[in-house]
Amino acid sequence: MNLQGKKILLGISASIAAYKSIHLVRLLIKAGAEVKVVLTPAAETFVSPLVLSTLSKNTVISGFANSSNDWSNHVMLGRWADLMVVAPASCNTIAKMAHGLCDNMLMATYLSATMPVMIAPAMDEDMWKHPTTQRNLAQLQTDGVQIIPVASGELASGLTGEGRMAEPETIVQAIIAHLTVNENAQPLRGKKVLVTAGPTYEAIDPVRFIGNHSSGKMGIAITEALLKAGATVHLVLGPSTQAIPQNTQLTVRRVVSAQDMYEACNRVFADVDIAILSAAVADFTPANVANEKIKKDQAALSVTLQPTIDILKTLGAAKTNQFLVGFALETNNEEANALKKLASKNADAIVLNSLNDAGAGFGTDTNQVQIFTRKGEKIALPLQSKSDIAHHLVQFIAQAIAL
Ligand code: CTP
Repeated sequence: MNLQGKKILLGISASIAAYKSIHLVRLLIKAGAEVKVVLTPAAETFVSPLVLSTLSKNTVISGFANSSNDWSNHVMLGRWADLMVVAPASCNTIAKMAHGLCDNMLMATYLSATMPVMIAPAMDEDMWKHPTTQRNLAQLQTDGVQIIPVASGELASGLTGEGRMAEPETIVQAIIAHLTVNENAQPLRGKKVLVTAGPTYEAIDPVRFIGNHSSGKMGIAITEALLKAGATVHLVLGPSTQAIPQNTQLTVRRVVSAQDMYEACNRVFADVDIAILSAAVADFTPANVANEKIKKDQAALSVTLQPTIDILKTLGAAKTNQFLVGFALETNNEEANALKKLASKNADAIVLNSLNDAGAGFGTDTNQVQIFTRKGEKIALPLQSKSDIAHHLVQFIAQAIAL
């Protein structure tokens, strides 16, 4: 019963090997999984939906609507499962997956899938070895799809060679291995996280602003590490030119000023489990923004500044059970200042950057930080790439919330 409580979505495409899917459903159910089946229209020629629905104890989905004309919700199906496995994956279905075609329910479900996807290809040896198929498989691997290796043996064409679908027992073993590795590697699966990153720009007039040197690199590295750990991320990003990862688990909200950033954070904060505020938010903003460009026909210019809202402190005061992480950028009395921020902003942890450390701070690809926690722990992470720092920070948070 190694798949107890796991939800598996089985996609079946048109191949002679589809007859083995019946045995695959039985094995998955025997291992404790809940199984739903989605068929391509052509697969119905090879395997009976009635047999599959009886064995899986669930309605088999093949069209965009069922017989009573109710729309089949592929988005919910794509979110329901812990894993989607397409077995057999025909040459045609592999090509569609590699190119994002959406002309049947299996493809619509694959394109909506937020969980890991595996495929067990099945085809004739010549099709398997064709450069187009190999190119499509390489594309799917790049997209994160795990390919269960084909076997060698007698093929439907009567020839012998590579291209046979893996045996159902092998597929079940691969599913168990994948889910086990994934659970260990994805400690934040199912968690929602708010991240702020980058600088904020505070307008003086229509062409000028007060900003800072933040690049957004650390916050984007944290976002990438969170996505790898399985989290759903809401990134609130100030003006930054860094490339943003493409991921269905990521929503990005671009903002300019501290006030915009606060409003964007406040909208989602109640709904997240974790908030990591790594943005370098301006502490002051011009009290009045000139409507027109300020001219230089004056001897001197003073701009009156007023404080911005402290986002971390405001969220700290409002928090219910969110794990709240702030950053502190200091140039002197680093530890004392970081501890002061930890308490005054009601954070669960503060990540201290010191501008005195070589290789740490704005724009660099490396960083060196210390994490101080509300429980009194102090964790020093030595100089390393921002992505390694992000990985360690995310692992630390995952452990802290699991306790
Ligand atoms: N921060 C915030 N809103 C602000 C200013 C800062 O949310 N208006 C957050 C930052 O994102 C960071 C933490 O507060 O997580 C600390 O930022 P930092 O600039 O080091 O400290 P400040 O609180 O601004 O204090 P000071 O500048 O006086 O050191």
